Amino acid sequence: MRILLFTGKGGVGKTTLSAATALKAAREGQRTLILSTDPAHSLSDALGQELSAEPQEVEPNLFAQEVDVYYSMQKHWGNIRQLMLATFRLQGVDQIVAEELSALPGMEEASAFLWLEEHYNSGQYDLIVIDSAPTGETLSLLSLPQATQSWLLKAFPGQRFAMKGFGAMVRGMTGIPLDHGLDEMERLFDKLQAIQKVMQDPGISSIRIVLNPERMVIREAMRALTYLQLYGYNVDAVLVNRVFPEAAGQGGFGQYLQTQARYLGEIEEAFAPLPIFQLPHQGQEVFGLPLLENIGQRLYGGAPFLQVLYQDKAFTIQERGGKGYEVKLKLPLAEEGKLKVQKFGDELMVSLGNQKRPVALPRFAHYLQLGPYRYEAPWLIIELAP
Ligand SMILES: Nc1ncnc2c1ncn2[C@@H]1O[C@H](COP(=O)(O)OP(=O)(O)OP(=O)(O)O)[C@@H](O)[C@H]1O
Ligand SMILES: [Mg+2]
Repeated sequence: MRILLFTGKGGVGKTTLSAATALKAAREGQRTLILSTDPAHSLSDALGQELSAEPQEVEPNLFAQEVDVYYSMQKHWGNIRQLMLATFRLQGVDQIVAEELSALPGMEEASAFLWLEEHYNSGQYDLIVIDSAPTGETLSLLSLPQATQSWLLKAFPGQRFAMKGFGAMVRGMTGIPLDHGLDEMERLFDKLQAIQKVMQDPGISSIRIVLNPERMVIREAMRALTYLQLYGYNVDAVLVNRVFPEAAGQGGFGQYLQTQARYLGEIEEAFAPLPIFQLPHQGQEVFGLPLLENIGQRLYGGAPFLQVLYQDKAFTIQERGGKGYEVKLKLPLAEEGKLKVQKFGDELMVSLGNQKRPVALPRFAHYLQLGPYRYEAPWLIIELAP
């Protein structure tokens, strides 16, 4: 059983590449499900087929599903939904607005995670591919269940999961199924926690970061890598999409190609030793299975794309008992003498001779000062002071 999750900035090609990957796997005989968690639902466009909120067969071995938060809540978490609706109405919120509010931020992601849990445990698939929403939402998906738990607790002030007796009393008095809702919520968090463990198991789940050779896209991808490593998820490859071929230079794109070459170099610096795959710009939008099949071949070449392509924990950041933080960076080839570290805002720049490696820090590190650093093979250890 394998789970592959594709993430990246909006519009970089997550849907296209995840669909191409799923199709390739299916045609190689893997029973594959592709799950879209993006409310924009462009997966049906990419596959050239109408999809629904339940898995649907696209062709033999290939199933696709577009997660819908309202559908998911009605089907699986009716009691929670009722509880939320009733609570909002009690607070004087209009019925229609209450309907909308019952799908709170995080619920979209939670639904996706719960579907994943169901499909994972069904044992029906060899591979589940997740075509996710842009980076920010995906990070909140992956920081579930903690995030969801915190806002749900906020939504029901004073109600703790332990208060079953109280819940039953409220049901008796007001008809609000508080106890059933709380029970269901508890089961929901258990499931979220279980599937999060599966997502953090590097032997089962891999995250693939999709990007384009463009400045802002690269920066967002670097930050995503840092956060994913921080949360304990294994990123096993970087996919560079929409690379213009050299031949485009003849069409007056010479300047653009020069910039692109520089960005491709920066991608190498920032992500090596992660395997980096490239896909050329196709010169047209990519819709339908024939084009997707072609892309799957071009993207991975002969690489064993279903396997875990890379596995390592190359970055950690730890609190130093009130004395700031310690960043550890794995740099197997470094020679200590020539190492230099600089800090620019929330980014570190590690230089070794004329090689450079930019490292995105979590946002809170912006206001920390660069302290002393040392090399203890293979780790570069950097102190950050308040
Ligand atoms: N290599 C490529 N060459 C040409 N067009 C491409 C390529 N990759 C993707 N596209 C096109 O770019 C558009 C955006 O791609 P896609 O929908 O896969 O991105 P996305 O990252 O899923 O976007 P979103 O963040 O909105 O979900 C689509 O129209 C797609 O057909
Ligand atoms: Mg998409």
